[in-house]
Amino acid sequence: MTSTDDSTATAIASFPFPRRCPMSPPDAYAELREQEPVSRATIAATGRPTWLVTRYEDVRKILGDPDVSANLKLPGYPLQVPVPDEVLQSVRPMLLSMDPPEHTAQRRMLIPEFTAHKVRTMRPHVQQIVDARIDAMLDSGGPVDLVTALALPVPSLVICELLGVPYADHGSFESWSGKIMTRGMSQEDYVAAVTDLDNYLDGLVTSKETAPGDDLLSRFIEKNRENPVADHVDIVTMARLMLIGGHETTSNMISLGVLAFLRDPELLDAVRADPALMPAAVEEFLRYFAISDAGTPRVALADIEVGGVTIAAGDGILPLNNSANHDPAAFTDPDRIDFHRTERGHLTFGFGIHQCIGANLARLELDVVYRTLFDRIPNLRLAVPFEELSFKHDAMVYGMHGLPATW
Ligand code: HEM
Repeated sequence: MTSTDDSTATAIASFPFPRRCPMSPPDAYAELREQEPVSRATIAATGRPTWLVTRYEDVRKILGDPDVSANLKLPGYPLQVPVPDEVLQSVRPMLLSMDPPEHTAQRRMLIPEFTAHKVRTMRPHVQQIVDARIDAMLDSGGPVDLVTALALPVPSLVICELLGVPYADHGSFESWSGKIMTRGMSQEDYVAAVTDLDNYLDGLVTSKETAPGDDLLSRFIEKNRENPVADHVDIVTMARLMLIGGHETTSNMISLGVLAFLRDPELLDAVRADPALMPAAVEEFLRYFAISDAGTPRVALADIEVGGVTIAAGDGILPLNNSANHDPAAFTDPDRIDFHRTERGHLTFGFGIHQCIGANLARLELDVVYRTLFDRIPNLRLAVPFEELSFKHDAMVYGMHGLPATW
């Protein structure tokens, strides 16, 4: 099979696929892995054609291939948000959509902020943040919505503190980033949310350029003066990526993991019996839920052979990391949550040069939240039947709109 043109693409699958069970990936992924592991689809929100890559080895191959680009301005890019082309062409690329050498230079400046050692030093502070939120929950007497009481504020507070963004403004930036991550926004609403968030961050970066604080953005500005890799607009764009990437994703993983523990007492018993199992539990929840429902979009820069198919230069590609994580060729009994699993290397944080820079921070937050929540509120339970829970079927990052809980 070779690359097809747009007229063929209109008759084929529409991406994204629905989930039958809110706790499992779409059934279509298993069918595609089995029958047509590299297949054509059309992206529902934009009508753009793309290749879907569903098997673990193939996803790694694409993400590790120097002949793919993450540049969202390329005509074949599998764009999933309805941005008018004139706006798209004028936006400043963010780290996620840069190619080397620009990507390498900017990423190198950020790496020291996210090393395993640096992140370990953040544990006491993350613990304080989590304790304070749980104190507030307990004071309220319950029931609470765990998303607004815990899952959203914890990563939001952590990333605000790290970047030097005032948490007092969280209402505004959480609302803008919520819109940016929702599928099916109108062009106007999407562009307005990005513009409002950028205007806000523009003011913040400007103030740090003159009066630096003890935070990541100020340190970046300082280092960038000595060794320039970014201008003011690049820094605003980078701040947007980290502010959104730093709280939306982790927040959704907190709520899905808490729900998994609440639904299956055996999982909770296992970490209670052996608290040292928690890092493995975090890793397994990350593998299992693989919340990035938008995949990791790329464009082929040369003809690429993958899964028995030739993807032509210029074609869009969507490697689906949540399908890869459920590939039985890579993970035994992949649809089971197993804290004792020995296979490593899930692709929830991506793979290759764009692999998530905040992975260690996300792991730390999940570890502290899951441990502390069930230690301090051992009888935590759902406040509504499971069937009444509302999941983010409409978002680029999967998760929960609310998680009513009581004790
Ligand atoms: C559970 C939480 C998280 C998940 C599932 C996640 C997922 C991902 C994925 C899949 C990518 C690669 C995208 C691609 O290759 O196209 C990525 C990149 C990135 N993530 Fe995360 N992320 C999480 C938490 C965080 C946090 C806490 C931060 C904090 C700053 C962050 C910042 C970034 C940045 C800056 C990139 C771009 C890296 C680059 O392009 O070199 N993420 N993330």
